Amino acid sequence: MALQDLLEVVPAGSEERSLVQAIDWTRLPRHVAVIMDGNGRWARQRHKRRVEGHRAGIDSVRDVVETSARLGLEVLTLYAFSVENWKRPPTEVRTLMGLLKHYLRMELDTLLRNDIRFQVIGRMEDLPGDVQKELERGMERTRHAKGLVFNIALNYGGRAEIKDAVQQLLADVVANGQDPSSITEEAISARLYTAGLPDPDLLIRTSGEMRISNFLLWQIAYSEIWVTEVLWPDFRRRHLLQAIADYQKRDRRYGGIGGA
Ligand code: FPP
Repeated sequence: MALQDLLEVVPAGSEERSLVQAIDWTRLPRHVAVIMDGNGRWARQRHKRRVEGHRAGIDSVRDVVETSARLGLEVLTLYAFSVENWKRPPTEVRTLMGLLKHYLRMELDTLLRNDIRFQVIGRMEDLPGDVQKELERGMERTRHAKGLVFNIALNYGGRAEIKDAVQQLLADVVANGQDPSSITEEAISARLYTAGLPDPDLLIRTSGEMRISNFLLWQIAYSEIWVTEVLWPDFRRRHLLQAIADYQKRDRRYGGIGGA
């Protein structure tokens, strides 16, 4: 997809159109990761139950996935459920799982039509059986897609991911009689859920919180962080475009002194 795909859905003369025009198409982030936050507060402000906030958040997911594909991003990773989220009331957890299933059933055809590869990162094996089945189906059906890789982080924890990777790596090192000094950063990256994918260039967090919340701890070493007060159910295409336009103004130095 390309500029034309986005212009098709962005009305001429709108604020979104100026944002699209402000974006440098040769310097798009390859991977955008999002901590979706603020569903509960969105619901509270409207005197609704928390789960209504999650339900409304599905529209934002749809909008952001579509925009990412139209922009031609390589990877989009959304943080939907952390290893800590099991502490929430059982009814909320059940609703979140139900919404995921519903989302996949409703969106699978759209994902396929837009050449989007769906993947889960996290300990999928601990999720309810029916949810696992739906997720497996989504991954299997979109396996050959060549466009956007759409990762959903589910039962995900950054520390748990690194611990699992280190355990695997040590087992390999011992089995091959290698010296511990042969361990490289690449060898660790290759054992994470995101193996083979570029690290996030841009990490977005909604609802104004300034935390990483155990998300992609290894992979975000050099990510640019963009935080907005907007609550996730209100997050739309224009916010993603704004984040990318702002990202492009940053001077990424990776510990060096920059090119200016
Ligand atoms: C954070 O809001 C949001 C979540 C923990 C879940 C996000 C899930 C969805 C939008 C629905 C399902 C997802 C997909 C990918 C189909 P919060 O409850 O922590 O809000 P609060 O901080 O205001 O309480």
